[in-house]
Amino acid sequence: MSDALGFVTVARTGEIAVGGVKVTQVYDTMVAVFRLDDGFWAIEDICTHDGGPLAEGTLEGAIIECPRHGAKFDVRTGAVKCLPATRPVPAYAVRVVGDDVQVSLDPAALAASPVNPHTGERTPWVEPVAAASPAASAPGAAADAAPPPRKPVGPPEFSSMPSQQEMAVRSALETVMDPEINLSVIDLGLVREIHFLPQRTFVRMMLTTPFCPYAPQLIADVKAATESVVAQPCEVELMPDPWSPDMMPDPGLLGFTY
Ligand code: FES
Repeated sequence: MSDALGFVTVARTGEIAVGGVKVTQVYDTMVAVFRLDDGFWAIEDICTHDGGPLAEGTLEGAIIECPRHGAKFDVRTGAVKCLPATRPVPAYAVRVVGDDVQVSLDPAALAASPVNPHTGERTPWVEPVAAASPAASAPGAAADAAPPPRKPVGPPEFSSMPSQQEMAVRSALETVMDPEINLSVIDLGLVREIHFLPQRTFVRMMLTTPFCPYAPQLIADVKAATESVVAQPCEVELMPDPWSPDMMPDPGLLGFTY
């Protein structure tokens, strides 16, 4: 479970050399964690110009250059330093607790980050080990991280810019067929949300009928397909909402109008 400020452990300090970077997924967000001379810093790993993978760019000092069209950002603040990007990339709070590098997406954590009183700039956050939150650092605690709250049910909606991991899971789930209708759980729009939590993948899905006799098999197949792509346990939550064909990406696949 993350602590009150939402910090989750994403790396050991020794994993990232000075001048290096680690890309990690925190809930649904790809985060690039950089190590500079003075400590660790984190920004979203997506260029605001056109989605380039920032961690694959060139780091000079505190400035990362996007590998796609050359926009530059300050990894300590997310500020744009060079066109063609015009919007900053989100920066996240990072702290070091013992050997753990922890990131929080919560703006409150960023606001709580230590600041140099002379410059007003954020400074690296290193917690004394004694102050480490047992909940945040205990082995296996991340497995208890709660999934995000449910999104409203409507037409199929995945993250606006799905990660490669999410696209790979969706692709694997296209092989999981609803035996009654003979269409996949993706074609039917049954899989509503996919979340990658620290130690498990969490899938929210619905059924075409409330008491579908194939439910146990469908759930098992969804778990197996997901776990074939992401090497961690998959948990499936069944949603009680009624399904309708307009939740399908392409209702025409049913072969009849409704
Ligand atoms: S995608 Fe980064 S500069 Fe264009």
